[in-house]
Amino acid sequence: MSVSLELRGLRKEFGGLVAVNDIDLAIPRGAVMGLLGPNGSGKTTVLNLISGALPLTSGEVLLNGQPVQHLAAHHRARLGIARTFQLVRLSRSLNARDNIALSLAFGRDALWGAAARERADAALATVGLPGRGNVDVGSLNYIDQKRLELARAIAAKPDILLLDEWLAGLNPTELRTGIELICALKEQGMTIILVEHIMEAIREICPRCVVMSAGMKIADGPTPDVLTDPQVVAAYLGDFEYA
Ligand SMILES: Nc1ncnc2c1ncn2[C@@H]1O[C@H](COP(=O)(O)OP(=O)(O)OP(=O)(O)O)[C@@H](O)[C@H]1O
Ligand SMILES: [Mg+2]
Repeated sequence: MSVSLELRGLRKEFGGLVAVNDIDLAIPRGAVMGLLGPNGSGKTTVLNLISGALPLTSGEVLLNGQPVQHLAAHHRARLGIARTFQLVRLSRSLNARDNIALSLAFGRDALWGAAARERADAALATVGLPGRGNVDVGSLNYIDQKRLELARAIAAKPDILLLDEWLAGLNPTELRTGIELICALKEQGMTIILVEHIMEAIREICPRCVVMSAGMKIADGPTPDVLTDPQVVAAYLGDFEYA
């Protein structure tokens, strides 16, 4: 299987803090990988370095073998990297459809006008919001705002989808729907990195997991093995002790 995304010696320092400490990682095309770790271990920062939201301190991000770490976020989006944010980021002055259509204008296929609106409506239907294109973002409840953010990410038909705690805050019924939605994207062959604290979701969605602790990769392997790894258990227990 060809490698879709590769991180080589990925490092991010914020002043004296090493948030991401020389991470190496290869994700084959179509793989779905969980990225776990206690609060503050560097998961969101890794996604930010992959998507281009933050510049890295050193290392490389390779997309289909090509270095992309020097490219701006919108350029990486055009190459097929899409993401959702840990805290939902939507434009409240635009309706649901236009939130998606706007990002499509700057996205992979540079779609405008009717073509963009059509693509947006299809994405809304995929995430369980059929016919809701005209609604104000402000009138959507929390799960529907999350759905909209996912619709915006997948509307561009990305190769790689980065989900930052997309399932957090959902009630048990919504969680089931959310897990099924991500599994459907997986079936379509999308390469996915899922940052998540909900173990039920990780077990169900991700055959492989990587665990970070204090910026370092401390485990990488099949999910059942990783979740019983004593070093991983210790990292989480340490987190609980200080929580
Ligand atoms: N823009 C920033 N400026 C300074 N420090 C930052 C910045 N972003 C993150 N950090 C720090 O880097 C470390 C890693 O943060 P990050 O948000 O990547 O953790 P995380 O694993 O996503 O945590 P959580 O599970 O709480 O979302 C933390 O110590 C955080 O305070
Ligand atoms: Mg985070």
